[in-house]
Amino acid sequence: MEFRVSKALLPIVCILLVILSHALPISAARHRRNMLANDLGATPPMGWNSWNHFFCDIDEEMVRATADAMVSTGLANLGYKYINIDDCWAEKERDAKGNLVPKKSTFPSGIKALADYVHSKGLKLGIYTDAGTYTCSGTMPGALGYEEQDAKTFAEWGIDYLKYDNCYNQGINPTDRYPVMTRALRNAGRPIFFSLCEWGDMHPALWGYQVGNSWRTTSDIQDTWDSMMSKAFENEVYADYARPGGWNDPDMLEVGNGGMTKNEYIVHFSLWAISKAPLLIGCDVRDMSNDTKEILFNKEVIDVNQDKLGVQAKRVRQEGDLQVWAGPLSGYRVALLIINGLNSASSMGAKWEDIGLPPNTPVIARDLWEHKTLETQYVGGLSVDLESHSCKMFVLTPVLS
Ligand code: GLA
Repeated sequence: MEFRVSKALLPIVCILLVILSHALPISAARHRRNMLANDLGATPPMGWNSWNHFFCDIDEEMVRATADAMVSTGLANLGYKYINIDDCWAEKERDAKGNLVPKKSTFPSGIKALADYVHSKGLKLGIYTDAGTYTCSGTMPGALGYEEQDAKTFAEWGIDYLKYDNCYNQGINPTDRYPVMTRALRNAGRPIFFSLCEWGDMHPALWGYQVGNSWRTTSDIQDTWDSMMSKAFENEVYADYARPGGWNDPDMLEVGNGGMTKNEYIVHFSLWAISKAPLLIGCDVRDMSNDTKEILFNKEVIDVNQDKLGVQAKRVRQEGDLQVWAGPLSGYRVALLIINGLNSASSMGAKWEDIGLPPNTPVIARDLWEHKTLETQYVGGLSVDLESHSCKMFVLTPVLS
């Protein structure tokens, strides 16, 4: 059927088209441009990963029990949906057809059965491989040269998330190796969250948004205060590149693994949340202390991470080891985190002019760790007393006149 517009009507049609294109909400337009074709990662991913606690000591029984615990503890209800198996799940040799083979001694029922189980609990299953000839443990094959075949295998098994590491990479640039898997995943026909793990080698924030849904900006985290803080700082440099569909990844959480104090873990979780980092729990969720639960279950802090605006916070002020981090949230609100990195107690203030609030605007402050709204309305700024290696986190709501 042919559709003709008479010449006389043409200017009117053009004007109507221009008006319509401007009527599209700006955020919706931005959102669409930023998303990979897989349409995943509108907010940072949440879940669990085996590496930080178990390293190579994994098997199907503990993955099942972890899925059970995610549901029974209530973590799943809070949004922690991905159960991600890291390195060491496959035999070192492929089969005669070149397919990956789940390790017979530890995953005898195979990955498909595990995916079915995890899905039956309303959760999603993630897996790990490498953009090289072997994975980093050296115990299983990487996907270099097998991208299409492995992506198809993952899709057939029902995989929902792929972490793609960078060992044994034959000296080939990540920008040549990672997009091959992006295309393979797209061809495999199942939406699979694609997590690039090239450790920040080639500034993946600059190109990752076209290739994956998240990208590691750092080398591996250790369960110490110094390591955790340095990952947060290295990751912050790329704040402007995070957006719905693609997130900076300063590595997985160490909360609950025992190397830091409770206050230090609160700083860790607050920093990851305000930085819009993936919230991938790295401890044994079958056996969590009350302190660990208090941290990982803090819905108010999780809500900052999952805010639909999707803007990563920045370190807006640093005085010695005293820091102010802040970033915008939806509804004209601001997330604020004040950290004392000193070895002694101290006080520190945040100024509205540093965090994008008009100095004369009164502000209501909600303390996200005390779970209470402060009685005073603050004008110009807010100051807090902090113990060594601790923080205060707030959501600030301006009182608009
Ligand atoms: C690399 C990654 C880690 C983990 C290990 C597994 O070091 O950065 O997160 O996946 O490999 O061997």
